[in-house]
Amino acid sequence: MNNIILTGDRPTGRLHVGHYVGSLRRRVELQNSGNFDKIFIMIADAQALTDNADNPEKVRSNILQVALDYLSAGLDPAKSTLFIQSLVPELTELSFYYMNLVTVSRLQRNPTVKAEIQMRNFETSIPVGFFTYPISQAADITAFKATVVPVGEDQMPMLEQCQEIVRKFNATYGETLVEPKILLPENQACLRLPGTDGKAKMSKSLGNCIYLSETEEDLKTKVMSMYTDPNHINVSDPGQIEGNTVFTYLDCFSRPEHFAEYAPDYSCLDEMKDHYKRGGLGDVKVKKFLIKVLNEELSPIRARRAEWEAKLPEVCEILKEGSRIAHETAAQTLSEVRAAMKIDYFSKENGLV
Ligand code: TRP
Repeated sequence: MNNIILTGDRPTGRLHVGHYVGSLRRRVELQNSGNFDKIFIMIADAQALTDNADNPEKVRSNILQVALDYLSAGLDPAKSTLFIQSLVPELTELSFYYMNLVTVSRLQRNPTVKAEIQMRNFETSIPVGFFTYPISQAADITAFKATVVPVGEDQMPMLEQCQEIVRKFNATYGETLVEPKILLPENQACLRLPGTDGKAKMSKSLGNCIYLSETEEDLKTKVMSMYTDPNHINVSDPGQIEGNTVFTYLDCFSRPEHFAEYAPDYSCLDEMKDHYKRGGLGDVKVKKFLIKVLNEELSPIRARRAEWEAKLPEVCEILKEGSRIAHETAAQTLSEVRAAMKIDYFSKENGLV
């Protein structure tokens, strides 16, 4: 049995540390685990266009940015196939057949679609392409016969919808598609990293993101202005951990070694939290610690990014070659799908005459 990963991101902006702890870091670990036969990482430009049809330049300009984020985070083109969605036209044909297996009301009940429609204020003017993107996502996953899809928890309804499509397809046309499993981040705190302002979601429009490519200076400014406990006014005041963004980030990023090195008064995060709760530990001190912890994680990423930025034609070549491989793989699946549906009218097995 093959172990195959497919996952990806919409290129609508540079990736931020939420993407990193939510999925990117894990992808790199999975890549290096040697447990997977194939790994496909997709830059979902076609999906990004479903709600950015009037702004193709935004999508276009972020393709290289996302590729640089991937490479600098440690995805290795020798081990993972990095490709661009729209260069694999088989995905649209698969989507077209899958559309017949999904009802409008089922799509309307998809919680992710529901939330996104609300977030984008589409109300009644929802683009059809956007509305149906869970179907296209099922095509993305099944085209590569992915067994494992490592994504954030917000993608759970997408995976469920994909599994339903696989079951429906196989039940109708015979065992053809592979049912994927979702792989969520291990650390609960990382399921959804809040923005620096404490708001639930990091988003470019809210200006509350810390990017993977953040410079040291900007990182410092952003952490120093992070939302903490608004009632923790004096250092001596008891402070609250719940909803305190700085501690949420520490939950995701800090490791025991960081304490030995940067905060030797504490042996672990729980001790630091206890001190904060008792009173006597100031926000500035905790924030300075977080800056060091984040820099330790981001420094090698920044260095690799600088290397790749100096050879952009090579990055393009990686995407071009990856897209060629992805196209070949998806073409194979599509021919199996067409055969299962018996719409391969001139083949030996299913020919019309
Ligand atoms: N929906 C994902 C995002 O918003 C991108 C994506 C498209 C994807 N197709 C996928 C993720 C298939 C996993 C599997 O970032």
